Amino acid sequence: ERPVTLSDLTRMKQAGEKIACLTAYDASFAALEDRAGVDVVLVGDTLGMVFQGADSTVPVSVDDMVYHSRAVAAGLYRPFLITDMPFLSYATKHQALDTAKRLMQEGRGQMVKFEGGEIQAETVEHLSTRGVPVCGHIGLQPQLVHKLGSFSVQGRGDAAAQAMLRDARLLEDAGADLLLLECVPSSLAAEITANAKIPVIGIGAGPDVDGQILVIYDILGIWPGRKPRFVRDYMQGAADIESAVRTYVDSVRDCSYPAPKHCFS
Ligand code: KIV
Ligand code: NA
Repeated sequence: ERPVTLSDLTRMKQAGEKIACLTAYDASFAALEDRAGVDVVLVGDTLGMVFQGADSTVPVSVDDMVYHSRAVAAGLYRPFLITDMPFLSYATKHQALDTAKRLMQEGRGQMVKFEGGEIQAETVEHLSTRGVPVCGHIGLQPQLVHKLGSFSVQGRGDAAAQAMLRDARLLEDAGADLLLLECVPSSLAAEITANAKIPVIGIGAGPDVDGQILVIYDILGIWPGRKPRFVRDYMQGAADIESAVRTYVDSVRDCSYPAPKHCFS
């Protein structure tokens, strides 16, 4: 088997084959996820919480992301690797390019992901025209925690839904190659996915997206914090970690995950 590329992901969208994505923060989990058939691995800035024990993703540095991305890349052969840009590492398009350079060259990521809709369109264009594959991240944006005060489902109500549809379109038009939707009502996520030519990956975004992503420690029931509605514990009934991850991949492929109880309406 050869490594997964962006064109494979686009082909999967067109063929209606679901893309199974999962976070990883080290080489051992990365290799296990590779063996279990995961298509896309994300070095998420959730590492601030699940690895560093912080109460948000805000304290994560570019150095942290480089360190973990490099470790994950070392464990991967087949999956496509996305690395998150941490808080305030992409505040200008020039800073974003510097950060992307480090994440791709030192961290060996194949794509960078960052939060924000319309206001990031110029940055997306700046990066994508210079050869940096970009994944946009809209819906719930965890890096805004101190601004928002708390987290909830995004895009409820007509105005918010229209704004998110517009954000998605602007990011795609700016050259984003992938889009991530977090905590979005299933019907809105379905509409965004139908309108997009690029693959749309969801977390808490219902079944009608092109792929799913979850945090590895959440699906193994290791993370002691509050469990969001969309989390399923795959260790329940699993013989070992690798078969739990394999069950996750299978459940994404056959659409048995997410079930209605994992979704927002
Ligand atoms: O940081 C992260 O792990 C993420 C996923 C939850 C999508 O952004
Ligand atoms: Na993230």
